[in-house]
Amino acid sequence: MDADARIEARLHAAIERAGGKGCPPRFSEALAYAVFPGGARVRPQLLLAVAAACGDPAPDLADSAAAALELLHCASLVHDDLPAFDDASLRRGKPTVHAVFGQPLAILTGDALIALAFETIAVARAPDPSRLPALTALIARSIGAPNGISAGQAWESEPAIPLEQYHRAKTGALFVAATMGGALVAGGNPERWRTLGQKIGEAYQIADDIMDAAGGGEAGKGAGKDAQLCRPNCVHELGMDGAIGRLKARVSEAVASIPNVNGADRLRQIVTAQAHRLVPKNIAVPAE
Ligand code: IPE
Ligand code: IPE
Ligand code: MG
Ligand code: MG
Repeated sequence: MDADARIEARLHAAIERAGGKGCPPRFSEALAYAVFPGGARVRPQLLLAVAAACGDPAPDLADSAAAALELLHCASLVHDDLPAFDDASLRRGKPTVHAVFGQPLAILTGDALIALAFETIAVARAPDPSRLPALTALIARSIGAPNGISAGQAWESEPAIPLEQYHRAKTGALFVAATMGGALVAGGNPERWRTLGQKIGEAYQIADDIMDAAGGGEAGKGAGKDAQLCRPNCVHELGMDGAIGRLKARVSEAVASIPNVNGADRLRQIVTAQAHRLVPKNIAVPAE
């Protein structure tokens, strides 16, 4: 099975488990709605690519860790779209979860997806179960406080938002969990993979800011949503050329940081190819 099929299969198994017998029917529908059809599935792809570069000796655990990251990402999007945060009406080209199912079910959908992510790891077939506590801690830190997604989103409630710290927590943390988690499940040294996750996370957030400023993001969201919501955006800080320059630099640094494992060449190709897809062609070519 290729990486896409592995990710979708594990996500389907998880969502069927959560939305199965006994689950309130509309809640079951909302859980599936939040996860399928997916977006780019970038984080689980990255985790599997790093695991593959490290030899992927424990594919079942890799699949579960990859699916867990995507479930957490989907949860973060459901909560992010709520009126209390960005009040978005569209996500992945369709109405947001709260727009279809109402706010109570949207809040609960995010909550249940977070729980399901950790359950997915807990029930994985791990040849070496001693890796599970470290994996669980890594992933928990990436979504919690002080430096995970929750903390990142919390900066929006402070009087001043430090741009880099905000991006690192809100977006970078889950990418770091993807690269370090990929190494961890494969028995590699996760610390050697931290920089790759950080740089890709930064590049990804810069690309998101560029698309927000240029109007190339979610159809129907319109350009300048960050400005409307008074969110920091690196295009406001650096200008479009400056932002594109910073994006190129982060992609080069990401590729340069890949440790010299057997599968490093293939991983360099994957990261470079993904980087080219980060921003629409009419705006810039992000990697050199
Ligand atoms: C959107 O993430 C939110 C950000 C962190 C910028 P993605 O762009 O990865 O969203 P999907 O999963 O592909 O829809
Ligand atoms: C998305 O962040 C959610 C998280 C990373 C927690 P944004 O609000 O910046 O991204 P979009 O534009 O809604 O996808
Ligand atoms: Mg937001
Ligand atoms: Mg948002």
